[in-house]
Amino acid sequence: MIEIRTAVFIAGFGVLLTGCDDALLRPDASTEPETLSEAYIDWWLQADLKEREFDGRIEERLLERLGRPIHQARAELGRLLFFDPIISLTGDNSCSGCHGPNSAFNDGNSIAIGVQNNGVVGLGRRGPHNQRRAPTVVNAVFYPSLMWDSRFEALSLDPFDNSGGFAFPDPEGLSLSGMDHLLGAQAFTPVVARVEMAGFEFVGDHDAMRAEVLRRVVDVVQYRSRFADAFEVIEAGGEIRYEHLAAAIAEFEFTLVRADAPLDRYVRGDLSALSYDEKAGGRLFFDEAMCAECHIVRGYANQMFSDFEAHVLAVPQVVPAFGNKPFDGAGDEDYGLEQHTGRSSDRYKFRTSPLRNVAYQPTFMHNGAYVCLSEAVRHHLNVYKMVEGYSQEALDVGLQGSPGPYAAMLDRATGLIAQPQILSELEISQIIAFVAKSLADPDAHPDQLRSLIPLSVPSGLPVHEFEYGEARAECSI
Ligand code: HEC
Ligand code: HEC
Repeated sequence: MIEIRTAVFIAGFGVLLTGCDDALLRPDASTEPETLSEAYIDWWLQADLKEREFDGRIEERLLERLGRPIHQARAELGRLLFFDPIISLTGDNSCSGCHGPNSAFNDGNSIAIGVQNNGVVGLGRRGPHNQRRAPTVVNAVFYPSLMWDSRFEALSLDPFDNSGGFAFPDPEGLSLSGMDHLLGAQAFTPVVARVEMAGFEFVGDHDAMRAEVLRRVVDVVQYRSRFADAFEVIEAGGEIRYEHLAAAIAEFEFTLVRADAPLDRYVRGDLSALSYDEKAGGRLFFDEAMCAECHIVRGYANQMFSDFEAHVLAVPQVVPAFGNKPFDGAGDEDYGLEQHTGRSSDRYKFRTSPLRNVAYQPTFMHNGAYVCLSEAVRHHLNVYKMVEGYSQEALDVGLQGSPGPYAAMLDRATGLIAQPQILSELEISQIIAFVAKSLADPDAHPDQLRSLIPLSVPSGLPVHEFEYGEARAECSI
């Protein structure tokens, strides 16, 4: 094994050591993991990343994968639609209400608040809670499947390739496969979700809901001219269809690629892009701590740190005091993938979270059970301790009721996390440093995304109030 890695290292990174006779030797590894030399870790990590086909160039490949440049007028139309409450039948919510730039396009809350909200996006958002946290849309262009149970799926395993079909739960089924990209297909769904954007008053099926949203949008003169600028067929006199609206939103999401993190620079050859602790944490992440058994980068994972499979992590159940979506079991559980497949063997399974830019998230896991990244990492290392000692004190007041039961969940916890891992505090802090810093693209910082908020939107409806700089939880490592 060592020979193979050395060979890979020399082929790929020999240039770093040119002129040095020691290039053929494996740098000295001391026996104590806490005192591994930096040269050794560089050698190990560079070779390991190469073996995993992680080249730090996924961001550059966007246009190649898309097969064309970004269509600027379409992306701009998509941005306005993303922020405009006109696409909610209730008129009070937009995509940005749950995927706010002030939270790096994540949820500002542990569990999303959809219709009947108070217009605020951030910790001050109030209204009935739904069931899960909105994950970020940043980099979602590279995900082969979407949602916490991966229920929206490119059957080719490539979101840019609709040839195998895009599978959605009924009633949509495979009917959205005509869209060029999985995100275009996804944009058909939030507007028909009653708890998110549609509300409970409108009478009609999904198609009727979309037709009504489209009717309202097309009624706005500015939108009509923007659709003509964005789509040739419309300019040539063709009618505006929901497909166009969805494709415009997807085009905006294509511009939300932020995948040039320190780890990408490091693997491209800048050894100073990571600190010693981040490198040591990276080694643990990919080796002893086995994080990369699930948070994978190779192949269809597109260097996103997820296998896009669902596992039982036994995250504490968080139940809203005031919600508008029924929970499972006695009313205080989320059965995860089972909701979609109906199989009890899928109970409590949730998709492995992609980890890029995770440091910019206000809360963690499918239900925001943790407000500190360090707790989300520690959950994996000693699930019993974390679940049994869990308190939801740090969450929004509306989520502080008694948590759902956990014994059945712990019984099913996946083998990989069912055993506590024996790591020193220093090692744990290094893993946290790796996840928090090496994977964070500075351009995904909420401050860098602020300029995407439009001052006004074509419908004339109020743009939400995005809280910036509000107090977040104090987190210790
Ligand atoms: C009420 C809050 C809410 C609104 C409004 C909303 N979303 Fe979401 N979004 C969510 C939640 C919650 C999930 C995860 C749901 C699940 O997995 O069951 C999600 C998931 C997604 C995902 C999948 C991300 C991933 O990691 O798989 C994308 C993409 C997305 N939303 C885009 C949009 C777009 C585009 C709009 C507007 C048309 C929108 N959302 C409106 C809450 C919202
Ligand atoms: C068995 C597969 C598996 C392994 C091994 C694993 N994870 Fe996870 N990880 C998951 C799943 C699944 C989730 C989401 C669980 C949920 O929300 O219910 C997750 C969530 C996370 C999150 C929270 C991200 C977010 O968006 O909220 C972090 C951080 C994380 N993992 C880091 C790690 C680290 C560090 C390791 C190694 C110590 C690791 N994971 C090992 C499957 C795994």
